[in-house]
Amino acid sequence: MIRIEVGLGERSYPVVVGAGALRPLPELVPRRVGRTAVVTQAGIGVAADTGRPQRTFEIGDGEAAKTLATVEMLCRAWSSWGLTRGDAVIAVGGGVVTDVAGFAAAVYHRGVPVVHVPTTMLGMVDAAIGGKTGVNLPEGKNLVGVFWQPAAVVCDTDTLATLPERERRSGMGEMAKYHFLAEEDLMSLPLDERIAACVRLKADVVARDECEEVGRPRGRAVLNYGHTLAHALETVTRTPGQPDVSHGEAVAVGLVYAAELARRLDRIDDARVEEHYKVVRDYGLPDRLPPLQGVRPVDLVELMARDKKAVEGLTFVLDGSGGPEVVAGVDAAVAEKTLATVAGEGRRAR
Ligand SMILES: NC(=O)c1ccc[n+]([C@@H]2O[C@H](COP(=O)([O-])OP(=O)(O)OC[C@H]3O[C@@H](n4cnc5c(N)ncnc54)[C@H](O)[C@@H]3O)[C@@H](O)[C@H]2O)c1
Ligand SMILES: [Zn+2]
Repeated sequence: MIRIEVGLGERSYPVVVGAGALRPLPELVPRRVGRTAVVTQAGIGVAADTGRPQRTFEIGDGEAAKTLATVEMLCRAWSSWGLTRGDAVIAVGGGVVTDVAGFAAAVYHRGVPVVHVPTTMLGMVDAAIGGKTGVNLPEGKNLVGVFWQPAAVVCDTDTLATLPERERRSGMGEMAKYHFLAEEDLMSLPLDERIAACVRLKADVVARDECEEVGRPRGRAVLNYGHTLAHALETVTRTPGQPDVSHGEAVAVGLVYAAELARRLDRIDDARVEEHYKVVRDYGLPDRLPPLQGVRPVDLVELMARDKKAVEGLTFVLDGSGGPEVVAGVDAAVAEKTLATVAGEGRRAR
């Protein structure tokens, strides 16, 4: 079993990664905890024995379940069961479960401990680590939430066996992003070590910038590498008639786009751009934009300029000699021209 510490002073916690990591769950739940409320979804089927009296609370599937109504439902059900501040919440599932259960735990009785048991690749390398919790509003994703660090995170790779192929691939897109934040070659590592390496990278960033302060070029925002185009692509493909693109696929295209953009701005060389294509392809992920109906490059640039993480004008996380960092004020014409290199068939000849 691999153990990583997220170093946040009093709020530090362990992340354990490996096959069978769930077995020592009773010891990872804080000692003083009496009962545990396990939050999960119907299709997950991962048994988490916390070694204490426990009850399971199911929430719905997908983004539609990430609502304040679900938080209210959970808090009311916990209250009916008599859950107190001496008890804890155990979130067993993907990012939807850990985001919602984490938020509900943060606000129930003004905060009860939560242990995350991520059961998706994306959950293990991203959503369950770092303490961001929250729900969606009709006006947008993740608009309501708080930072609430878990007491522990348990990444049992055995749970991934039942993950649908599409979800696994989507998680790979998130993992691909870490290849460019890492100094070692992640591809050569076995899966558990690779997940642990991603966790370590995220833990380091979170320890530097726990609450994502605005204006830190190498703060938490670097975790958004590849996400500026990805978010724009996800926005346009949500409408009927557009191709179905998973988050990880969108991130994969976003990564090669960010690399091409950094190349155009003379921040990296051709070999580094090539590395981006190689990683994305090795994961079997797309390195081109899908055919979009009636969407012009300028529309994507406009959407990217409206990204909620944008500080001033067009803002990207771009690779450079010191690794990816936040770069504000990118020229819209350059961003638009670069879109052509990741559109259509085949790669631009160099
Ligand atoms: N808090 C953060 O820092 C953070 C970071 C990244 C993403 N997120 C959030 O994470 C969410 C996406 O998470 P996700 O990709 O894990 O999707 P998800 O939670 O919707 O899970 C995907 C699907 O897989 C099912 N599933 C989960 N584990 C399974 C298993 N082991 N076997 C079979 N089925 C299983 C789920 O029930 C669901 O239907 C988004 O809402 C996003 O906003 C949060
Ligand atoms: Zn992502």
